[in-house]
Amino acid sequence: MTASAAAPARKRLFIRTWGCQMNVYDSTRMADVLAPLGYAPAEAPEAADMVILNTCHIREKAAEKLFSELGRLREMKRERESAGAGMVLAVAGCVAQAEGAEITRRAPWVDIVLGPQTYHRLPEMVARAARAGGAVIETEMPVEQKFDHLPEQAAPPGITAFLTVQEGCDKFCSFCVVPYTRGAEYSRPASAVLAEARRLVAAGAREITLLGQNVNAYHGEAADGGTWGLARLLRELAEIPGLLRLRYTTSHPRDMDEALIAAHRDIPTLLPWLHLPVQSGSDRVLAAMNRGHKAADFLRIVERLRAARPDIALSSDFIAGHPGESREDFAATLALVREVGFAASYSFKYSSRPGTPAAGAPQQVPEAEKDARLQELQALLREQQDAFNRSRAGMVVPVLLTGPGRHPGQVMGRSPWLQPVHLQADAALVGQEVQVRILAAHPNSLSGVLVSGEAASHILSAEEPAPA
Ligand code: 5AD
Ligand code: SF4
Repeated sequence: MTASAAAPARKRLFIRTWGCQMNVYDSTRMADVLAPLGYAPAEAPEAADMVILNTCHIREKAAEKLFSELGRLREMKRERESAGAGMVLAVAGCVAQAEGAEITRRAPWVDIVLGPQTYHRLPEMVARAARAGGAVIETEMPVEQKFDHLPEQAAPPGITAFLTVQEGCDKFCSFCVVPYTRGAEYSRPASAVLAEARRLVAAGAREITLLGQNVNAYHGEAADGGTWGLARLLRELAEIPGLLRLRYTTSHPRDMDEALIAAHRDIPTLLPWLHLPVQSGSDRVLAAMNRGHKAADFLRIVERLRAARPDIALSSDFIAGHPGESREDFAATLALVREVGFAASYSFKYSSRPGTPAAGAPQQVPEAEKDARLQELQALLREQQDAFNRSRAGMVVPVLLTGPGRHPGQVMGRSPWLQPVHLQADAALVGQEVQVRILAAHPNSLSGVLVSGEAASHILSAEEPAPA
């Protein structure tokens, strides 16, 4: 190498991310720890000196998808090697955690397998892989916490940013791999969260979503020696000047305590939106799932949330066809959906995850029946989502402008309920929250016009903008 010792050689890094926002966040942090080694983003894996596949175990056929991707990458790696270049290939995330040994057995061309708790050690693993000529596996879940070792975020955040405050889960729902792959619940100290939030806001973020697999179980150590719950953390975050909006995801009904509900009443910047997975509306299935609450408990939480914050909208996760779910149980889920009325939802067909209690349970629901139930559930949820979107038409709603739209003079923004909104406005307004009269609801977005005083002078055209 002829470059001077101080300047690392310029290398390209490609990260492919599957799954949740936590994984998206982790991918940016992996890019951050590798930046000092000279790695800059690559457009495509073919052009990359290092490829990381950040995997998700929750989705169906996660392992098969990974192995077929690894098959393609093996070819690319060979081509690069025959052209005199190399490719360090790493598998990260929950599939790596759960199936590390299987990955190196079936795909010996993989150089590094790392679990979600070891990202801060990536640079060292890259160096070891370069020396070893064999796979480096790091899937321990050490007590030493990765957060303390990760550098500050390098890339500038957008107007909307994510901030991980909690990881792992101790709930052990019957169907879920997270407690096995992400390990025990851990909360970041409150001072670290506040410091990161201040940095994000100083760098331009106006909306922050707090992330955690069980975010409302947050119990972070505070500077005063006490422990803060999520409600207290939100109250402190709300004091940061310039931070216009706060959200958090994903929550568990069992941790929806009085203090958190009161936070929805008291904190104006906490958006009227909550993703609260219920999974099923049948008490029998909820018990089999080990959820620790009944359908009535969920309904009562919804009632209290709506009393605290009348404009709150809810989204949820559902599983159709958990082992032992009868037609009656499924009907109870539909009844709960009808009773609550969700603004958005994610619904899944139950799929078995090796090692979880439900995987070995008798009474697996036949595939065709699971499909039929999922379709029926999704039709109802879609109807509710469309109705919710349509109900915004005619309202004046605060919209955080996040960037330019697809058409000249158009900007994009986000409603309090996560809907994309497009309107005609001056791009100089990006980063501000403006009042918008919603004119129309499209399948996946809203369109409207500015109504706020000062902002109104920036209207470029009175025409209704074209749908996105
Ligand atoms: N089968 C189907 N859906 C699942 N989920 C988690 N594990 C499974 C599984 N084995 C869903 C749950 C969870 C969401 C993130 O994914 O609804 O809330
Ligand atoms: Fe999985 Fe249940 Fe924990 Fe959610 S609460 S991460 S579904 S075990």
